[in-house]
Amino acid sequence: MAHPFDALTAEAMRAGGSWKWTGREMVAGADARGRGLIGAFVAEMDFPTAGPVAAAVRECADTSRFGYLADGWVADLAEACAAFWADRFGWAIEPERIRPVPDVMTALTATIEHFTTPGSPVLLPTPAYMPFLTVPGMLGREMVSVPMARDPFALDLDALDDAFRTSGAELLVLTNPHNPTGRVLTAEELADVTAVVERHGGRVFADEIHAPITFDGLRHRPYAATSAAAAAHTVTATSASKAWNLPGLKCGQVILSSDADARRWADHGYLAEHGTATPGVLASTAAYTHGRDWLDDVLAYLDGNRALLRDTPLPGVATTVPEGTYLAWLDGRGLDLDEPPAAFFAREAGVVMTDGAACAGPGGMRLNLAMARPVLAEALERMAEALDARG
Ligand SMILES: Cc1ncc(COP(=O)(O)O)c(C=O)c1O
Repeated sequence: MAHPFDALTAEAMRAGGSWKWTGREMVAGADARGRGLIGAFVAEMDFPTAGPVAAAVRECADTSRFGYLADGWVADLAEACAAFWADRFGWAIEPERIRPVPDVMTALTATIEHFTTPGSPVLLPTPAYMPFLTVPGMLGREMVSVPMARDPFALDLDALDDAFRTSGAELLVLTNPHNPTGRVLTAEELADVTAVVERHGGRVFADEIHAPITFDGLRHRPYAATSAAAAAHTVTATSASKAWNLPGLKCGQVILSSDADARRWADHGYLAEHGTATPGVLASTAAYTHGRDWLDDVLAYLDGNRALLRDTPLPGVATTVPEGTYLAWLDGRGLDLDEPPAAFFAREAGVVMTDGAACAGPGGMRLNLAMARPVLAEALERMAEALDARG
């Protein structure tokens, strides 16, 4: 049976004016055969957000809730987020330990600035979410890339251990579910991370923005909930922005799982919290509380898109169907092109993906699966044709 998302055509998306469909990445306008471009790069979904989220934003407009953030709204958000995390992931967080931020990037910036020694480097498993490669440098910190093991993607714990020892880094950025590889880390992997971090007296920034988006019966495991040691050395950041598709509403959450960090945040978190948008807080509260059925429907739809990707042969391209997130990693190194595979597919198929080089994974491509299935089918068909035409 057709799903309402199936009707979201490329033309309608372009008319909507989003970055994903009209941004500078799409400036060519058409591929080599004159076909319109399909936006499959930035991590947002083409699906309209949940009814309760839209209603919360409408109510903000109707009642002029555009003022500064009231303590009561922050408390409601914390309660809603805590209840969602307890129900979905089995982590009982005291709501007082959940604080609002505009976004996860702000949480990372604040963590680097206030929870690590000035000048200390930052460790980042790669490939990685693109801004993580550059933001530490903007704060005057060295970003130390720790390449992941491949086939399948996994954290390279020996390399992580070495990197802590040789770089003097204090902070590990641990993204799980992982963008861009789609990995959902196992309990064993998380325990191994804790052992390495503890060996070096390090800290973890746990980026769990994609936590609600997992498949195949896998459940997200909050890193800070895995042990007392992990709770003590971790600042967790999350948001309703990926799962309910509301990144422009500017509301994320920081979860402080140690007393000392909660005190430190109380002393230093003001600036980080200040940019949080009131409508974003109210919308996120609605998402966590009343948006769960919508989320389950989206997960089922995304699962169908995963199946389509799995079932579409792209000769020469090694496809990683994501365990979590709606981002698939396509390894095009086997194509032996004399240009980035992402550039080839943008020109020859009109499918605009994130170039893996931007994630420190040259030769790879990050394909956003969160689009109407007929549009995804066309994208994959065009890609297969482009490969075929190469002979
Ligand atoms: C893993 C990961 N972390 C952080 C972000 C950025 O989130 P925010 O918009 O809340 O800063 C994204 C956005 O795609 C992401 O995928």
